[in-house]
Amino acid sequence: MFEQIITSTKIIKTDRLTAKDLDKLIFYYGGEAACPAIITGHNPFPARDKMLDELRKIRPAEVLNKVAPDPKVKDVMEMCDELKKKPVNVLIGIGGGSAMDSAKGVAVILSNGGDLEEYFGAKPVRAIEKRDIALILIPTTAGTGSEVTKVGVFTDRNGRKQTLMHPLLIPDAAVLVNEYVLRMPPALTAATAFDALSHTLETLWNRNATPISDRAAIESAVHILKWMETAYNSSISGAQEGLPEMLEGACMAGTAFCITGTAAVHALSFVFSEEWHIPHGVACAFMLEDIFRLNCKDKKTKQQLSKIAEILYGKHDEDTLIAMLLDKIISLKRNLGMPFTFNDLNVALREEEIGGLFDKTLDDPKMKNNVIAIDRQLVHELIRKKFQ
Ligand SMILES: NC(=O)c1ccc[n+]([C@@H]2O[C@H](COP(=O)([O-])OP(=O)(O)OC[C@H]3O[C@@H](n4cnc5c(N)ncnc54)[C@H](O)[C@@H]3O)[C@@H](O)[C@H]2O)c1
Ligand SMILES: [Fe+2]
Repeated sequence: MFEQIITSTKIIKTDRLTAKDLDKLIFYYGGEAACPAIITGHNPFPARDKMLDELRKIRPAEVLNKVAPDPKVKDVMEMCDELKKKPVNVLIGIGGGSAMDSAKGVAVILSNGGDLEEYFGAKPVRAIEKRDIALILIPTTAGTGSEVTKVGVFTDRNGRKQTLMHPLLIPDAAVLVNEYVLRMPPALTAATAFDALSHTLETLWNRNATPISDRAAIESAVHILKWMETAYNSSISGAQEGLPEMLEGACMAGTAFCITGTAAVHALSFVFSEEWHIPHGVACAFMLEDIFRLNCKDKKTKQQLSKIAEILYGKHDEDTLIAMLLDKIISLKRNLGMPFTFNDLNVALREEEIGGLFDKTLDDPKMKNNVIAIDRQLVHELIRKKFQ
């Protein structure tokens, strides 16, 4: 329960979520005059759909299902337009990171006005000053941890992924419903598991790391490394083992990186999603071993990473522990079908295109969080390695 200690979000864990349970939460946050709206994706999802049908028999609830992967500012703004006329005071995001982030975006606009793009960048036109709508997030993937983070990621009108970060984005409640992750397709289980694992490692190799974030990152990394392959195999066989554990691990990882932000793996990953629509978790997995090797040049990072390996494999010297952990990550990537090269990604990139696509990552605050400073030459070197 370490995660509950370091976040203000109320974390509720349950095997199933009934409409009555959700209604109680809506009442708790919205009071007698609660006016809830639900933000979700449009793909059919029987467990969620049945629960929402039941909920609407108990109280009126607007359901908006415009969310698509890598959620677009345009869709968030359209949902806001639909909700502006109503006295919405509780927003519920149900889905993967894309739906949960969309709910955060809607909460920002309904509370502060303007256009979502006005809040992006180092010198935004508008500041987030308040949030007068309660935010309840319910993940259906075991990955992003958005249900407990101060982060929302949105694709702007130019197709660039923008990270919005503010303490007022931290949700009031996160409901972890085991049933919702039991039938994830194997590819989604794999991708989102690597997103969660990346969050733990990026918390450790981060300039903003603190003793608390280190502890949370090590605990969640051990948990995720123990369960991710079992969860993936369960997704294939229809067994249930490991999937609820990954839901919990992803949430733990969210509480950890909420303290530090992410780092180089995430900064680079955005290019793969913007240019070639690679799913977020796969894009994070792609460079994970390269950034791991690089960041082991930092003494403290190496020491913290070796603590993860020591919990998993017992006492060995530091270099052996690091080699064991790296082997584990590489073998997980292989077993869960993650890409190692541009060939694996089915992406034809030419050497002369590297600068145009990847130099922008150097200005990304996430890149600046990385413990080892990464310059233009190093980015090019890292990307060139992926040609082989
Ligand atoms: N806010 C944060 O802290 C944070 C952290 C990491 C990533 N992100 C962002 O979150 C997004 C990625 O989220 P994601 O990886 O959860 O995927 P996603 O939300 O984009 O969903 C991917 C696909 O899976 C479907 N899906 C979701 N749950 C399912 C289930 N249980 N069974 C079957 N299909 C299901 C969705 O409908 C969608 O088609 C990216 O935009 C990423 O940048 C946000
Ligand atoms: Fe992520």
